[in-house]
Amino acid sequence: MSATIDPIIPADLDLEAEILRMKKEKGAVLLAHYYQESEIQDLADHLGDSLALAQAAKQAKAEVIVFAGVHFMAETAKIVNPEATVVIPDMDAGCSLADSCPGHELAAWKAEHPDHKVIAYINCTAETKAQADIICTSGNAEKVVASFPEDQPILFVPDKNLGAWLNKELGRNMDLWPGTCVVHETFSERKIVEEMARHPKALFIAHPECEEAVLQHAHFVGSTKKLLDFVRESDAQEFIVGTETGILHEMGKQAPGKTLIAAPYDENSCNCNECPYMKLNTLEKLYLCLRDLEPRIEMDEDLRLKALVPMERMLAL
Ligand code: 13P
Ligand code: SF4
Repeated sequence: MSATIDPIIPADLDLEAEILRMKKEKGAVLLAHYYQESEIQDLADHLGDSLALAQAAKQAKAEVIVFAGVHFMAETAKIVNPEATVVIPDMDAGCSLADSCPGHELAAWKAEHPDHKVIAYINCTAETKAQADIICTSGNAEKVVASFPEDQPILFVPDKNLGAWLNKELGRNMDLWPGTCVVHETFSERKIVEEMARHPKALFIAHPECEEAVLQHAHFVGSTKKLLDFVRESDAQEFIVGTETGILHEMGKQAPGKTLIAAPYDENSCNCNECPYMKLNTLEKLYLCLRDLEPRIEMDEDLRLKALVPMERMLAL
């Protein structure tokens, strides 16, 4: 019988120590999203939300960027930092939002609306980004939308929940692509209301990828990073957290002693409050990807340059 976790990884290998050693040896920087498993978060040089990680990727001087996140994030790193070798632990780490809006379908929608500008949420492929006028993340979406005159017709892709929340917050009427996040649409309004009744002192905080029925109960709505900052800064001691549970690790560190309750979800659904794509990345795959510098993000230069234009517009804001 084999004494190994995987035929090519010795069972007694200290993966964390090896990852740290190889990072140094290969001149690599490790970027990790808050939704990664806690062991990966703890090894990261930069831990952040989509916006912070895109900025960190652009500024990285390292020869190698190891992106512990999902594919569109690693692809974004390659768009803004083409000199670096960009690797991702699992090439299949996708995103339901990115899958919902292929570039050619957005091109057809644009053709039907020639007077509209396109704002693309960063959770989309390079092909889709290349069709956009500007990119936004949940961390800067309000600023990006507000940068357009109020009478400018806008197509917003691919997250209809984030788009609807922005329309409501900013009094806009953007046309919305019907994409959703499989994690954030799983939260159950009924169960959240029950949980709030059980914890009357708790504040309910939620990511804007959640459905409107859920967001209407939130004391605070914001990107992953904004939720983290809110919990740390708030005088409240108890929070019901309506986003992917990976964030609870860093929240617990930054707000020790506060009570963090993962928002309940619809247990009849096939999905839950853990992103199945983010969680494809494991410590073992991270080790292999650093060791072999595979799998790599490769991109056609023409496509990269087209996708870079709306990315640069966002980063300039
Ligand atoms: P942020 O990192 O912008 O909060 O987005 C959350 C998310 O779902 C990333 O895929
Ligand atoms: Fe995509 Fe949702 Fe997973 Fe983020 S949490 S990567 S939006 S499926």
